[in-house]
Amino acid sequence: MTHDASPQILNELSRQFETATPQEILAHALKTYNEQIILACSFGAEDVALLDMMLRINPQTPLFYLDTDFLFSETYDIRDRLIQKYGLRPDQVRQMKPLSTPDEQTQHHGPNLWLRDPDQCCALRKIEPLSRVLKDYTAWITGIRRDQAPTRANAGLVEWDTKFKLVKFNPLANWTTDDVWTYIRASDVPYNHLHDQHYPSIGCMHCTKPVMPGEDPRSGRWSSSEKTECGLHK
Ligand code: ADX
Repeated sequence: MTHDASPQILNELSRQFETATPQEILAHALKTYNEQIILACSFGAEDVALLDMMLRINPQTPLFYLDTDFLFSETYDIRDRLIQKYGLRPDQVRQMKPLSTPDEQTQHHGPNLWLRDPDQCCALRKIEPLSRVLKDYTAWITGIRRDQAPTRANAGLVEWDTKFKLVKFNPLANWTTDDVWTYIRASDVPYNHLHDQHYPSIGCMHCTKPVMPGEDPRSGRWSSSEKTECGLHK
């Protein structure tokens, strides 16, 4: 598989994908990488749409979620509703936990690390578990979209992930929020109830705030700092 995954070949493939549907991109991804591919699922709107599309193509495809121990109860609720609706097997839904519990983190780094050093908190609770799970795969699928943030404006539909050293599919890269919600409603996909309570973008409890209509949808993430990315994608 590695021989056809050079950054140049992936760039060319991404260019060809510009006119393809997310389902066509997913079909290619799942066929090419078969048991070597996994969906990164935060259970946000993009990811539930992708999950629905992916399971229609191959109901066996796995997903993982980074369980930082700081997720909202609504996020566990949507996880459980999806498991029920699609009949997902326990080994199909990989829960990735940090190496330290919140108490251990407080012992080693002091209280409220997310306030004092959000980058370090994300490194411990998201990036390390992400690196661990991705070692088991040659490709991953994410829900990032170009119009979410300037840091994502150049995301390919498929690209070489230089940080984690594997192939990365972003099948919704050229979709808008409206496209995502049109799909969710048309396909009756379950979604996180927080989306109906002014949370367009949902991360950890401590670092996610509601956003008022008209504001940047990502402005509720790490709203008290300059931080805009946790390091999963940049
Ligand atoms: S973040 O980097 O700011 O946290 P965002 O919430 O926009 O990312 O989500 C972008 C994509 O990153 C999601 O569509 C998903 O593929 C992946 N992702 C984000 N958070 C998680 C998580 N907790 N578990 C698994 N994947 C995640």
